[in-house]
Amino acid sequence: QAFFRPILSAAPPSPTKRHTKISVIGTGNVGMAIAQTILTQDLADELALVDAKSDKLRGEMLDLRHAAAFLPRTKIIADVDYAITAGSDLCIVTAGARQMPGETRLNLLQRNVSLYRAIIPPLVKYSPETILLIVSNPVDILTYVAWKLSGFPSNRVIGSGTNLDSSRFRFLIADHLDVNAQDVQAYIIGEHGDSSVALWSSISVGGVPILSFLDKQEIAYEKETLENIHKEVIDGAYEVIRLKGYTSWAIGYSVANLARTLLRDQRRIHPVSVIAKGFYGIEGGDVFLSLPAQLGRSGVLGIANVHLNNEETQRLKASAATISELTSQLEI
Ligand code: NAI
Ligand code: 2OP
Repeated sequence: QAFFRPILSAAPPSPTKRHTKISVIGTGNVGMAIAQTILTQDLADELALVDAKSDKLRGEMLDLRHAAAFLPRTKIIADVDYAITAGSDLCIVTAGARQMPGETRLNLLQRNVSLYRAIIPPLVKYSPETILLIVSNPVDILTYVAWKLSGFPSNRVIGSGTNLDSSRFRFLIADHLDVNAQDVQAYIIGEHGDSSVALWSSISVGGVPILSFLDKQEIAYEKETLENIHKEVIDGAYEVIRLKGYTSWAIGYSVANLARTLLRDQRRIHPVSVIAKGFYGIEGGDVFLSLPAQLGRSGVLGIANVHLNNEETQRLKASAATISELTSQLEI
């Protein structure tokens, strides 16, 4: 006996409403922050969680399921077997070693490349049409590794990159000017890490280009002040790791923000890690780093042509060289 007796002939589900499935690989601090943000923001009909530790995984799944009465309806499944990820629209990979206090992201490379050899092939097998969104560090090089291991076209392999650094940057500028961070348009590009590049020349607040505004008003600003804000962006993650052991909430919101743009075909521009060769004067081998990219349902749609001054271009090339050197030494 069905629980509900239909009172009208039930209408079939609308053919235009697609079932959206997101898989999150790695249910540590970062994976769970992403999972809970995806749930609260109603971004998926189905959420699949995969981790190597089965008890922790089942515990996290049950804990999230127990919030069902307070959340939009989402089917939550979890298993150590990648078969549960089948048919995902988006696979978000956060599994891997994280930094100890003071350790750089690049130091994690060898450990996490080995893990990726076990993670990427089954994701591809079960979801050949998915978009891969890479989060584990060092994110730019692991995005390259995921691209190579997957055999996917580069538009469907994206690293979360400096979408997070740019939010830190926008927060600091907003705090400095006492405005809302959502009204600050500002990008950090390049490596998600120590060689990132702040694009000061293109910052605008409420549509007003900020450096030329200060120049026109003859308001003095010290280059050192700008450098200090960028330094605070770079040091921010180290400080949080020193204080609480890991970073999680900001990356959770950053990745959910990317998931929304991708799955809802929002065509917004985000600084994310993409194949960079041929853009902004970056030559040489295949290298992934963050550029302002337009994202939509099919992944990366294009790269925005933001104006960079000479110094910014040189810094971006240096950042590309740092990543390229490590990438070229990899055996995948
Ligand atoms: P964590 O140690 O809390 O979680 C890592 C999880 O990966 C663990 O649950 C572990 O069991 C799982 N795992 C390990 N090997 C696995 C495998 N073969 N298959 C499935 N799962 C496996 O670490 P946390 O804090 O969640 O960080 C995860 C990664 O995210 C790190 O590499 C960290 O550096 C990176 N990260 C990246 C950010 C970004 O902006 N791109 C921001 C914050 C962290
Ligand atoms: C972050 O920037 C550690 O990459 C991590 O929060």
